[in-house]
Amino acid sequence: MLKKRKGPVIFSEIEPFAGLKRSLEIGRSEVLDRVRSSGIRGRGGAGFPTGVKWNLTATASDEKKYVICNADEGEPGTFKDRVLLIEYARLVFEGMVICAFAVGADEGILYLRGEYISLLPGLKEVLNKMRKDNQLGKNIFGKKGFCFDIKIRLGVGAYVCGEETSLIESLEGHRGEPRNRPPFPTNTGFNGHPTVINNVETFAAIAHIVLKGVDWFKSFGTDKSSGSKLISVSGDCRKPGVYEIPFGTTIKKILKMVDAKDTKAVQVGGASGICIAKKDFTRKIAFEDLSTGGSVIIFGKKRNLLNVAENFLNFFAEESCGQCTPCREGIPVLIERLKKIKNTKAAKGDIEDILSLSETMRLASKCGLGQTASDALTSILNNFKKEYILVKS
Ligand SMILES: Cc1cc2nc3c(=O)[nH]c(=O)nc-3n(C[C@H](O)[C@H](O)[C@H](O)COP(=O)(O)O)c2cc1C
Ligand code: SF4
Repeated sequence: MLKKRKGPVIFSEIEPFAGLKRSLEIGRSEVLDRVRSSGIRGRGGAGFPTGVKWNLTATASDEKKYVICNADEGEPGTFKDRVLLIEYARLVFEGMVICAFAVGADEGILYLRGEYISLLPGLKEVLNKMRKDNQLGKNIFGKKGFCFDIKIRLGVGAYVCGEETSLIESLEGHRGEPRNRPPFPTNTGFNGHPTVINNVETFAAIAHIVLKGVDWFKSFGTDKSSGSKLISVSGDCRKPGVYEIPFGTTIKKILKMVDAKDTKAVQVGGASGICIAKKDFTRKIAFEDLSTGGSVIIFGKKRNLLNVAENFLNFFAEESCGQCTPCREGIPVLIERLKKIKNTKAAKGDIEDILSLSETMRLASKCGLGQTASDALTSILNNFKKEYILVKS
């Protein structure tokens, strides 16, 4: 028997499918309005306003629309979606059904990270039960004409397929490479039809918003980041795991919560996030301050942060799809310069080169992978100058 989790929003009590029933009572435009007014922003990392996304899909003129749940969860240090899919799958699927009702979609897909294949039987069981209980299928809960079903498709282990347009490419049977945008999936998504793509955690919040209301949801978090965030905490602490915190929680508070001692650095946002030092532990998890898809990795005083940066860069070199030059060619150059720093053969000019190349990668890469691949390295070089020695040039 799993221990019941506690948290302000997603881990709070809710009657299964009461959010869906309420949605059918209040109608699609009221659902869209509640999601928009709640101020909820995507929990997958980019933080795009969910209400705007749903409205764009709802108003797109096409007979066929899709709802996709992004369960690719490949960011190093992130494992909160796995917990939701194991313990709260009904809540996630309920959010997808509410979305389908609101935007007028009749097909849903859960894109599941290939490495999570062991979750498949449990998820299928939940879907089968939902079909039996008329929470999926034809005329859902007796609502004439509202038909929707969900299937599960497995990824094959590419991190870049978590990026929404390469996820769609992968679903369509092509190489998992990001597309140029615009057009955006809300207009031209899966098989060319308007598509909502949201993170697992975003969908898990929806029934709560519809049922308990906008004011209740906004009573958690900050003015610019309403609600809560699930974080996956790993590294040098005594209580790693998945926690639900209100937005606005400081790093200091999180470190206390997970019983971390002698912390040197915290990597917020996974490999594509930034590494912060003690002086910044009063900063907050929020879109307007430290934004994260959920990964929080703690490094104790004995950790070598240059090794951490190298580890992340090797990950990106492996996972880059190779489509654009700044990302494909830039990451190996960063690795080479970092090795020079590690071997105390680098000068000030090498740091300047790294910063300038990083800026080029940020501006000229096509997707978030290349745009953020250097963030961990540059934040370590800026925040932890004592970690390395430069030669005089
Ligand atoms: C390289 C890369 C990997 C990503 N991986 C994921 C992922 O595993 N899960 C996820 O929800 N979003 C991921 N995203 C963000 C998605 O592109 C997209 O913004 C998100 O699924 C939208 O859902 P949300 O608005 O609910 O956050 C990734 C983005 C990039 C650039
Ligand atoms: S930034 Fe990197 S991963 Fe993204 S499209 Fe370009 S080469 Fe591919």
